Amino acid sequence: MSLIPVIAIDGPSASGKGTVAQRVADALGFHYLDSGAIYRLTALAAQQQGVGWQDEAGVAAVAAGLDVVFDGALILLGGMDVSEAIRSEQIGVGASVVAALPAVRAALLARQQAFAQLPGLVADGRDMGAVVFPHAPLKVFLTATAEARAERRYKQLLGRGEAADLAAITADLQARDERDRNRAVAPLQQLPDAELLETTQLGIEEAVAQVLAWWQSRINQP
Ligand code: DC
Repeated sequence: MSLIPVIAIDGPSASGKGTVAQRVADALGFHYLDSGAIYRLTALAAQQQGVGWQDEAGVAAVAAGLDVVFDGALILLGGMDVSEAIRSEQIGVGASVVAALPAVRAALLARQQAFAQLPGLVADGRDMGAVVFPHAPLKVFLTATAEARAERRYKQLLGRGEAADLAAITADLQARDERDRNRAVAPLQQLPDAELLETTQLGIEEAVAQVLAWWQSRINQP
C-alpha cells in the first residue's frame, strides 16, 4: 500500500468533479490527475494515427506509446498543445469508446499511478477509487442529475463561444453515462466506501469545502 495520500474523486461526465478536484488539490498543495484527459489524449492520438477507436490492440499500442507532457493547464501531445483539442465533444465520445476496451485501460494504469507523488494527489475519473487507487484514504462519488449536468455543459460551451444544443447535449451525456456505467471493465459505480457528494443544489465552493472537511476528518483519525 502506497504511503502517498490520495483523494479519489469519481463521477459521471460534467458532474463538476474536475473543477472540484483541481480546487481541492490547490487548497492542499497536492498534485492533480485528470484521468479523463488521458483517455481523451488516447482517442485523439488514435485518430491522428489513423487507428479506429474500436481497434483494441491498435488503441492499446497508441496508449502505451503516448508522448504526453502535463504542464499546469497545458497538455502537450507529441510536443503539440492539445489542451483545447481534447475537450471537444467528438473527442469526448472517442474517449468513452476507447475507455471501454480492457487492453487500453491496462496500458494506461501505470501512467496514472505514477501521478501519486508527495505531498499527495487528488485524482478524478471513473475508476480512481475502484482500480487505480484502491487504497485511497478518501474516496468521493461526485454526481448531479443528468439535467443539471447537461445544463452546466451547455453553459460551458456557450461561454467558450461554441454552438450548443441542450437537447443534443442531454442525449449525448445520457449515452456516455450508459456506456461508462455498463461496460464490463472498470464501470462507473459508487463504491460502498465512497462518500456521496450530490451537487445538483451545491455550489463549487460548498463542494470543495465538503471534500476538505472529509479529508480533515481522515487526517485527524487516530
Ligand atoms: O471525465 P471526462 O469526460 O474527461 O472523461 C472522458 C471519458 O473517459 C469518459 O467517457 C469516460 C472515460 N474515463 C474512464 O473511463 N475512466 C476514467 N478514469 C476517466 C475517464
